[in-house]
This record gives sequence, C-alpha cells and structure tokens, in this order.
Amino acid sequence: MKTRLYAYTGTGNSLWVARQLAMELQEASVEFMPSSSNDFATEADGVGVIFPVHIWGLPSHVIHFINHLQVKFGTYLFALAVNAGQPAATLIQLKRLMATRGWSLSSGYSIALPSNYIPWGGPGPADAQQRLFTQAREKIKAIAATVRQGKQRDVERGPLWQNIPFSLIYRISFGKVCKMDKNFWADDKCNHCRICAKLCPATNIEMNDGKPTWLHRCEQCMACIQWCPQEAIQYGKKTVQYQRYHHPEVTLEDMLEQATTNQG
Ligand SMILES: Cc1cc2nc3c(=O)[nH]c(=O)nc-3n(C[C@H](O)[C@H](O)[C@H](O)COP(=O)(O)O)c2cc1C
Ligand code: SF4
Ligand code: SF4
Repeated sequence: MKTRLYAYTGTGNSLWVARQLAMELQEASVEFMPSSSNDFATEADGVGVIFPVHIWGLPSHVIHFINHLQVKFGTYLFALAVNAGQPAATLIQLKRLMATRGWSLSSGYSIALPSNYIPWGGPGPADAQQRLFTQAREKIKAIAATVRQGKQRDVERGPLWQNIPFSLIYRISFGKVCKMDKNFWADDKCNHCRICAKLCPATNIEMNDGKPTWLHRCEQCMACIQWCPQEAIQYGKKTVQYQRYHHPEVTLEDMLEQATTNQG
C-alpha cells in the first residue's frame, strides 16, 4: 500500500512520529500539511494524518487541511494524535470531521510525548522524556503493523471525565486561539535574527524595529517561543523560568521547510 503521511508540528514531536512510522511502513512518504486555500489531491492508497493535540482537540490547521484534502475512493485513512497525556476526544472529533467529507477514519492512535505547552511549564526531566520516546517507538511499530494490514480499529480516546469537560473547553476557546498571541513578547535577548518570523506556520509574525510583532492569526503551536535561538520570546510572565523544548531529532531547517510549504 502506497502511504502518504501528512504532518503538522510546532516542536517536532509529530514530525518525528511521522518519520518513525514512515521508516516502519513500506512505501511511505512524509509531507507537511499544506495550509493553502486550494484543494489538493493525493493518489496514495493510505493517508495518515499526524498532528499535536491542542486544547483537547484538533488544531485549526488540521481542520483546514482535512477540509481541502481530496482522496480517491477507498483510501485507507488513519491518524496519530500526538499529545502530552491527554488526547481527550480529539480523534472522535477527527472521525466526525471526516464523516462530513463522506470518509471513514479506519483507525486512530494516541502517542504521548513531552509537553511543548510552555505557558504551563517545561517538558519534564530528561529521563522521563527518554522513557516517552522509547514507549512511542514501541507503539509506532505496533501501529505500523496494523496500518500495513489495513485494519479497522475504533479510535483511541481519553476517559469520559476528560472528554466531556475538556471538549467543552475546546469548543469555548477555539475561536479565541488566534488572539492568544497577545501574551507573547520578546525580551532584551532578541538579536533580531528573524527566525521566529520565518518559521511561523501561520505567517503570524512581522518584524518591527527589529523585534517580532504577533498579528493575531496565531495557531498556538509554540514554534516561535520554543525555537528562538536566544530564548528571547516569552509568554506572559512565567516562561522566563521554564526550559525550552523541541524534539532532539528535529531541526530548525525542518521547521523552516514546514513554513515554506505553508507559504507556497
Ligand atoms: C496550545 C496547546 C495546547 C495543548 N493541549 C494539549 C492537550 O489538550 N492535551 C495534551 O495531552 N497535550 C496538549 N498539548 C501538548 C502537545 O500536544 C504535545 O506536546 C505534542 O507532543 C506537541 O507536538 P508537536 O511538537 O508536534 O507540536 C498542547 C500544546 C499546545 C501548544
Ligand atoms: S527568533 Fe528570537 S532572537 Fe530571533 S528575531 Fe525572533 S525573538 Fe528575536
Ligand atoms: S505566532 Fe508562534 S505560536 Fe503562533 S502560530 Fe506562529 S509560531 Fe505558532
């Protein structure tokens, strides 16, 4: 089965997952999810969608992607929702979204990796991160076996106590995400390198007087704050004390490639 994996990422976790899965599968390739407003088609027999969970649901980028994707009849569709331990009902939301396109999500998996949500803290101790990478590798191997056989599986989900209240919070906050960038600011460590503006997948950063300005079409992916080489970007008051994170096997060049995909 020729498989195309579409990835969206803020700090590389989802891209790493996509690459690990591509290594396990035969005839699989990884592409970034474009954000173009034109429809685009894939001739692949299998399509995998790999993305981070944001506020207990789908990032707007993923919704946009699904709404513009064209697949051929009978395509095997599956998804990996990458998260920090609370996938909640994200894959159920994706299943429903795909149903509106007349598609069936054949299987959906949760992969837990270090948290990139820096407003709430750092990614956790190095040994705990390594444990998550090891567990993820093992799970991805098992997922590859299921995908290769084109199996149907019910999508993974969090417990009810998580899904019901957190799905509600998702719905309440979804429309406000684009303006949550009002809490970003650049401190004196900024050396005006422009990297934040170049890697933003939403072209949401403009440079003014050598410093970034956020334009309120933010996807809250955390790429800008996590990848700034000077650690000059802050979110509110607390991030000064929190450790930055990106997946150790993903590079700034990968992030710039994602941004180029989105701009093109
Ligand atoms: C805005 C935002 C919201 C998040 N919400 C959740 C969440 O609801 N549940 C969860 O487990 N992780 C959540 N996370 C953590 C990410 O899903 C997790 O760190 C993921 O691995 C990041 O993947 P990426 O590096 O591909 O962007 C959130 C992260 C961000 C930036
Ligand atoms: S990436 Fe960091 S140092 Fe470079 S312009 Fe942006 S805020 Fe300044
Ligand atoms: S401004 Fe920062 S958090 Fe918002 S979409 Fe761009 S890179 Fe992501």
